Amino acid sequence: MLSQRRILLIVGGGIAAYKALDLIRRLRERGAAVTPVMTQAAAEFVTPLSVAALAGEKVHSALFDLTAEAEMGHIQLSRVADLIVVAPATADLMAKMAQGRADDLASTLLLATDTRVLMAPAMNVRMWGHPATQRNLAQLRADGVLVAGPNDGDMACGEYGPGRMAEPLEIVAAIEAALADGPLRGRHVLVTSGPTHEPIDPVRYIANRSSGAQGSAIAGALAALGARVTFVTGPAAVPPPDGVAVVRVETARQMLQAVQTALPADAAVFAAAVADWRVANASDHKMKKDGSGHAPVLEFAENPDILATVAQMGSGRPRLVVGFAAETDDILAHATAKRARKRCDWIVANDVRPETGIMGGSENAVTLITGNGPEVWPRLSKEMVARRLADRIAQALQ
Ligand code: C5P
Repeated sequence: MLSQRRILLIVGGGIAAYKALDLIRRLRERGAAVTPVMTQAAAEFVTPLSVAALAGEKVHSALFDLTAEAEMGHIQLSRVADLIVVAPATADLMAKMAQGRADDLASTLLLATDTRVLMAPAMNVRMWGHPATQRNLAQLRADGVLVAGPNDGDMACGEYGPGRMAEPLEIVAAIEAALADGPLRGRHVLVTSGPTHEPIDPVRYIANRSSGAQGSAIAGALAALGARVTFVTGPAAVPPPDGVAVVRVETARQMLQAVQTALPADAAVFAAAVADWRVANASDHKMKKDGSGHAPVLEFAENPDILATVAQMGSGRPRLVVGFAAETDDILAHATAKRARKRCDWIVANDVRPETGIMGGSENAVTLITGNGPEVWPRLSKEMVARRLADRIAQALQ
């Protein structure tokens, strides 16, 4: 439920603006108050009258509105909400946000705010795929903007592909996740997830079988308890959960950098299956057979240990640092030694022998090792493991 919550809804100028009307209804049904802002282009697609009628509030659209400035001011307008939602976020609005431009009310509000922003992109498939839009998307994600959608499907322009705005109920789910209230409200938790890809040459890489399922479930469970979650993920098979700020990386070194950028955090959970080594002699062009029958020899260099780096930070160390230990034998002994060596607070040890079906599967059998020793958990779904771990993290941060 969203009662007592205020959403500042910025409606951008695209055909998907009609879905913003339904979004307003759905939000109000759940008890949220909606302050609508429309760009000039949005008013070409839906009328401010419809938006105001559904929101039950006046529509703000002009930057230089003397009455509004006298009553409230655009700076204050940007701060009264619990969440700012941009739907549809057009390519143009995304570009303005990424550049920090402030040439109309919507962009000025987005620049002036210290409130979290969730956007639901909507545009033509080519515009979405354009390197400029993808660059802007990466920048906005790095700035902490939450993203819902876009979906694949038929588009109003007659093309097919990614670019359709997420459906109103999907946006509502992302809003609810972002505003979840609970014991972790006000806390920032960092989660790493997925495998890393370490390039051999521009087309080949070394990877591992991690799907990212456990990391995604943990990030989702932490967000559901109200945490602000930064989710640093390698190329995972499982999508990130709603309501978390996603930072996508490929290599271990990029992951370390993204983690350092995301700090400070109250707690950090390192669920990523980071490659221990990278190819030291990776080639910047595709390696080819030369007919001699000699295979290339790869040399390896050790990757930075992200968990150990963060666990051993002096000032700025998260209060709680949680690592994982995926083991195939002597699980408890190895995991206990790992906890001491890396100096993390907790280790979640799991048995990844192929016959368990855990790596890439939907269940996990873990032992949580804290300063008080090991606790064996029953075999549970990865979601249940995530919920239990999130509950324990919430207790530890109290
Ligand atoms: O040493 P090992 O890879 O088994 O340790 C596993 C734990 O360390 C996991 O929590 C993993 O996310 C983290 N790790 C890391 N950076 C590495 C290697 C592992 O953060 N380079």
